[in-house]
Amino acid sequence: METRWVKMEETEEAEEGYAEAIRLLLAGQNVAFPTETVYGLGGYIGTEEGLRGIFQAKGRPSDNPLIVHVYPGYDISQVAREVPASAESLMARYWPGPMTLILKKAEGLSPLITAGLDTVAVRMPSHPVALELMRRGQIAIAAPSANLSGRPSPTTAAHVYEDMKGRIPLILDGGPCEIGLESTIIDMTVNPPMVLRPGGLTLEEIAEVLPDVCMDPGLTVQKDVVPKAPGMKYRHYAPKAPMWMALGTPDAQETQIRQGLQEAKGLRRGVLTVDEHCRDYDAEVVLSLGSRRDPEGMAAHLFDALRRFDEEQCEILFTETIGSEGIGNAFMNRLRKACGGKTLKGDNHGGTSISD
Ligand code: TXA
Ligand code: MG
Repeated sequence: METRWVKMEETEEAEEGYAEAIRLLLAGQNVAFPTETVYGLGGYIGTEEGLRGIFQAKGRPSDNPLIVHVYPGYDISQVAREVPASAESLMARYWPGPMTLILKKAEGLSPLITAGLDTVAVRMPSHPVALELMRRGQIAIAAPSANLSGRPSPTTAAHVYEDMKGRIPLILDGGPCEIGLESTIIDMTVNPPMVLRPGGLTLEEIAEVLPDVCMDPGLTVQKDVVPKAPGMKYRHYAPKAPMWMALGTPDAQETQIRQGLQEAKGLRRGVLTVDEHCRDYDAEVVLSLGSRRDPEGMAAHLFDALRRFDEEQCEILFTETIGSEGIGNAFMNRLRKACGGKTLKGDNHGGTSISD
């Protein structure tokens, strides 16, 4: 299958891009499109082939449900049978935006979307191309992130092309994603509402509307507590090489990584760092996510950097870390997954040991 790549900033091509995308979606085919978080791999919720095609193209396990994307004016009762008042308040404040709500599903919604659950994930993205596509087609679109299962989510059309070339007929290119981490998923069917995946909308922002919101304990504590969002249990976001995180103050982190680099001499070593430190490391590949003072910018570049370490064929990776305030919460959640929890531990003698 040939994969067309259409740039949506140029008006003439964009018109054609929308028309072609809508034709394909209604015919049960799949189209990748930009959102403000990451690129989505879309299928029209009204076609079984379109929904099946998503799982095939990604190599996604069928027990992992999809997010339904909607647009302003869409009648939510088509997909959700109950919208609690607290969910209405969140929608009014944060939609369109990087927030996905878990609601009780409407009768008649395909079990392919919900993986047989009684609930459905719904989100209204803010990217103008995503909104325009749905508004013009008058359709809700089911879409996971447009990466091959297990790879970092795509934050540019080039990332989508890398993973989906030959697998889907069309990619709408809306430029690099502004947020670069996936949406925050909040389960509104439990009391108090629970964050199942930290993301582009921060806990602090949610708490402004829902002061009693809590976090899924499966996200933070011991490995034997299974996270509630089916997708959170899979190995995700991981570069091919093993990756270790440094902890503590920026200086302590630098010391730990320098020591780790020493111990890993002879391997092709990669370091994920910040502008403030990027000249301090002697490694084969050093990538900066931007200034430590700009965590939003760091988040926006994380998935691209993880992909680049694979391209560079690094054999061992080290990364700096940031605090978990604001976007730092979602950023560190993805980074911990990329590292499989492995940390570099400095000891009292100034030495460092690589530990699992
Ligand atoms: O930012 C985003 O959310 C992106 C863009 C494309 O919108 N989408 C995205 O989709 O990240 P995906 O499929 O990669 O992640 C969806 C997550 C999975 O972890 C899935 O298990 C969870 O949402 N999910 C979907 N339906 C659910 C449900 N009914 N209950 C609990 N978790 C659900
Ligand atoms: Mg995903």
